[in-house]
Amino acid sequence: MMLVIDSVLSAAEVAAMREAAQTLTFDDGKLTAGRFAATVKANDQAAASPQRDAILAKVNAALAASTLFRSAARPRALTPLILSRYRQGQTYGLHVDDAMMGGLRTDLSFTLFLADPESYDGGALIIEDPFEARAIKLNAGDLILYPSTTLHRVEPVTRGERLAVVGWVQSLIRDEAQREMLFDLDQAVDAVFAESGKSPLFDKLAKTRSNLLRMWAE
Ligand code: NI
Repeated sequence: MMLVIDSVLSAAEVAAMREAAQTLTFDDGKLTAGRFAATVKANDQAAASPQRDAILAKVNAALAASTLFRSAARPRALTPLILSRYRQGQTYGLHVDDAMMGGLRTDLSFTLFLADPESYDGGALIIEDPFEARAIKLNAGDLILYPSTTLHRVEPVTRGERLAVVGWVQSLIRDEAQREMLFDLDQAVDAVFAESGKSPLFDKLAKTRSNLLRMWAE
């Protein structure tokens, strides 16, 4: 399942992060690419510093606070986040993300866009499947969550600067279809509660969701 989550960060939060990012030092993004991905990766990423860590901590807090993110990803753990920057001519060619990062299995990848889409050209995230290549370029503060199993790339930036935070999730639910069923059940449970409160139907649905999670979680 692929999901866009709007407004993970507010406009004010994004503006503050963009300003803070101006003061950071950036390293070559090849440092965190796998052997093959490094051959097609040409971007920069923020070097470790207290200022960078403050930005990433705010993003982590926003993800933890997002009901939709938690419902869609069922995170067991997140990899350390990366603040990435693409300037004119920079790109990340077609690749698949490493299956394991720092001892975590990468089930889901995400990109949180920080730059205003009008402020740069190119830089869309392209996710390929056997039928089509989808181009994703979101408003600042919005996030795309997608399976780490996909081939994807970032189009060359031809003007301006694309700033984003990327990261990976090891999910409690390894299987994508099971994860989607739990996501759908979350919506159903919420809808039933909104309509008729804690009814017998709500109890049955909530019990089923809970027991499926118990059955599948690892
Ligand atoms: Ni990738």
